[in-house]
Amino acid sequence: MNGVLFNIGQLATCPPHSAQHAAGLIDNAALVIEDRTVAWVGPAEELREYPPDFERHDCAGQLLIPGLVDCHTHLCFGGWRGDEFAQRIAGASYQDIAAAGGGIRSTVNATRNARPIELAAKARDALKQMLALGVTTVECKSGYGLEREAELKQLQIYADLDASQAISLVPTFLGAHIIPPEFETRREDYISLLCDTLLPEIAAAELARFCDVFVEQGAYSVAEARSILGKARELGLGLKVHADQLASGGGAELAAEMGATSAEHLEYISDAGIAALAAAGTVAVSLPIASLYLGDRSLPARRLIEAGVAVAVATDFNPGSAPSFPLPLAMTLACIRQRMTPEEVLCGATVIAARAVGLEGKVGSLVKGCQADLALIDAPDLNHWLYHFRANACTAVMIAGQWEISPSSV
Ligand code: NIG
Ligand code: FE
Repeated sequence: MNGVLFNIGQLATCPPHSAQHAAGLIDNAALVIEDRTVAWVGPAEELREYPPDFERHDCAGQLLIPGLVDCHTHLCFGGWRGDEFAQRIAGASYQDIAAAGGGIRSTVNATRNARPIELAAKARDALKQMLALGVTTVECKSGYGLEREAELKQLQIYADLDASQAISLVPTFLGAHIIPPEFETRREDYISLLCDTLLPEIAAAELARFCDVFVEQGAYSVAEARSILGKARELGLGLKVHADQLASGGGAELAAEMGATSAEHLEYISDAGIAALAAAGTVAVSLPIASLYLGDRSLPARRLIEAGVAVAVATDFNPGSAPSFPLPLAMTLACIRQRMTPEEVLCGATVIAARAVGLEGKVGSLVKGCQADLALIDAPDLNHWLYHFRANACTAVMIAGQWEISPSSV
């Protein structure tokens, strides 16, 4: 649509390439949408004439934000792991469960055995619910197949969903999630399969924009990850690293060395890792729902931000460590547990998250020229929204100039 949103209680522009805390809040604002993009934004009293056929919407008492970007999910998976939730409550650790053959391995079995139609329906349902929360772009990883057919099955589902529902998807190949059980005694053969067969095939078919590796005891070593990421970079894929989640293991330093777009988790990042990310301009992706569910520490957001590292906030939605996808909940947790301000957190889930998926300046910001992806929130201002968490605070969502959830009074 072409239209004008006026009388907006508070609007957050989250401009590209600015500081973590610069949410660009404007009280009593207006925004003009033309040709699927933001044409003008500013204080309501400066709004000039616009064509009479433009749709008008009164946003009194509402907060308008850029559509949220969930820059880290494992969206497509077979089954759930509620049994492990109970085991963890009873005292088992995530690592104990994985060592006993559960964890990621159990989801790999369920995903390999699931029919594409079931996997797609489940992922589609999650996306529909994410949209209702104000989420308009979602990064989604493979990594529960760990064999050619099942990895391609997940990535093909992402391509089909991207084309057939409203949220934009950014697919990431995580074939290096763990070593699949059948390769346990010959891990170098699986790494060769990744580098020589799967990565070239996936890059050529454009089934992924990023390659991710889980660097951790029980997953991949720094040296193994270096060779996988090096191959992915050669093939033109962007790089991501699951780093320092359960222990400090050099993952952040590797992400920086390889020029990765982002390093994720980082609960146990070292001082050297923080300095390396800052020097490389690599985004740190915080995943407070995973920290909460695992009962573990949060990443040191204040130290990262003070060192000059941009910190994104995402859900990590997956059946094990973060079986929950409300990004606004992750945002409230990032305020409370990571001591990030509401403005820092909003930037983390919009403009900085867009940077983490290579889309900064296109989505995640409401400035002239950006895609008109936005969410209306029933809250007088940003602080109130994140303080008074409600799952149903979002009242309308627009993607590329089209209402996907219409404001009731349009
Ligand atoms: O980001 N850390 C590795 N991978 C996921 C967990 C996946 C799972 O438990 O199934 C994560 O937390
Ligand atoms: Fe993850």
